[in-house]
Amino acid sequence: MRLKHIKGSEETIKKSPYVVIDPEKHRGKWNNIFENTNPIKIEIGMGKGNFIIENALRYPNINFIGIDKYPSVLIKATERLENIEIPNLRLLCTDASSIGTMFDHEIDTVYLNFSDPWPKNRHERRRLTSFPFLEKYELLFKEKSHITFKTDNRLLFEFSLISVTEFGYHLKKVCLDLYQELPEDNIPTEYERKFASKGYPIYLLDAEK
Ligand SMILES: C[S@@+](CC[C@H](N)C(=O)[O-])C[C@H]1O[C@@H](n2cnc3c(N)ncnc32)[C@H](O)[C@@H]1O
Repeated sequence: MRLKHIKGSEETIKKSPYVVIDPEKHRGKWNNIFENTNPIKIEIGMGKGNFIIENALRYPNINFIGIDKYPSVLIKATERLENIEIPNLRLLCTDASSIGTMFDHEIDTVYLNFSDPWPKNRHERRRLTSFPFLEKYELLFKEKSHITFKTDNRLLFEFSLISVTEFGYHLKKVCLDLYQELPEDNIPTEYERKFASKGYPIYLLDAEK
């Protein structure tokens, strides 16, 4: 993704009550942050945050944590949240490669939406559905491992189907054109809106282990 650096974004996002600055300190204790024992679901690579914010509003009895590695991206979500109070939502500015240091078997679902495709073979390990990341996610899940993934990228989707099944997940749902049968509970991401409006097929997989 081409990214324009926003000057001062790193400092600005830290002032948001939604952004948890030292996530490692809360490892194993995220329910304390939310002050309840409700399930916790995370989105890795949340971008501007429509998906995670709308989920938090729609499902107040589930806790949501949105994660993105760039402050210049996360700031779009913190700006949108400026005058809204959503107690079941937190945001982290961090790279998914260190996710295992932040959670300890306390997450119910990992959402991956329109993840960067990394099309070159030599970059396969950077894809968020590759084995190195699936191994890291194992440290997060409370009981069953559960991943939901949406993308417009056919090659990344095929790669992900193979990767998750070879890793031991079973596929609960596979959809090759989400907008043909658009489920009522679908919450679109920013990228999804853009690609769906151009008529591109949106692929979805829902996998559990
Ligand atoms: C193509 S954008 C999709 C954004 C959003 N999910 C959507 O569908 O509109 C991918 C996002 O993932 C983030 N990202 C990529 N690799 C990441 C990683 N290793 N850790 C955390 N975020 C990452 C990028 O900064 C970017 O915001």
